[in-house]
Amino acid sequence: MIYYFSGTGNSEWVARSLAQQTGDSVTRITKKTPFPVEVKKNEVFGLVFPIYAWSLPRIVSDFLKNITVESGAYCYAVCTCGAEAGYAMRLLGARMHMDGVWSLIMPDNYIVAFKVEDDDEALEKVRHANVRLHEIADHINARDCGCSDVHIGRFAFFKTFIGGHLFNRYALSAKPFRSTWACNACGLCMRVCPTGNIRIADDMPFWGDDCQQCMACIQRCPKHAIEYGRSTEKHGRYVFHFTQEQIEDTDG
Ligand SMILES: Cc1cc2nc3c(=O)[nH]c(=O)nc-3n(C[C@H](O)[C@H](O)[C@H](O)COP(=O)(O)O)c2cc1C
Repeated sequence: MIYYFSGTGNSEWVARSLAQQTGDSVTRITKKTPFPVEVKKNEVFGLVFPIYAWSLPRIVSDFLKNITVESGAYCYAVCTCGAEAGYAMRLLGARMHMDGVWSLIMPDNYIVAFKVEDDDEALEKVRHANVRLHEIADHINARDCGCSDVHIGRFAFFKTFIGGHLFNRYALSAKPFRSTWACNACGLCMRVCPTGNIRIADDMPFWGDDCQQCMACIQRCPKHAIEYGRSTEKHGRYVFHFTQEQIEDTDG
């Protein structure tokens, strides 16, 4: 089974592509994912998730607390990131034994800090990731052990252990989220939130205090009617939207 967490679809696409190439199936990690997960001898456990502040999303860390793995199981993880994963995979390796770990560079979805990349640039990243995905699937199918190919980046120790810690402590607040006049209370933000942190009342969304910063609500709003403070007003929106034809068509 491949377990994945995804806010804007990058990691979901990776998980589904891997499932197709390895004959496996996928389960989305949400607050409702059934616990505990037991991985038996000879079973395969895959984990796909986005990097948040050179670290693991909190929901993924929590998920890992409830997994037991019998020896003889094959375990691997793939993270997606805009540029650098830092030592996130080391944090993961400290939690459970991994036979293979890889990172894939994908379009960056952190619009609180950055403008979205233009579509051509984003597609180029996805095409490159797609080529690497085939190689990763080959390793998984061969049950290769000791594989590690991660874009760690510079100053990884500082970024993961200080930046990641500060992010988890101070940046997970949903308070800056607000809806604008364009909101028609369709409730999509509520439905896509992986932690059930949004409720609709008086025809507008309200955020609670269990936010992962996955960006699903703000990025997937069909009316562009959600902002995070003022920082997202001019940063555009990104959701994985590429077709397999676009990805495979390297002439285009
Ligand atoms: C809160 C947050 C923090 C992020 N931190 C990093 C980071 O430290 N390094 C990086 O390369 N990308 C970072 N990103 C970008 C995402 O890891 C990347 O876009 C990922 O592919 C998104 O996956 P998803 O579409 O499955 O949610 C961050 C994104 C978010 C939302």
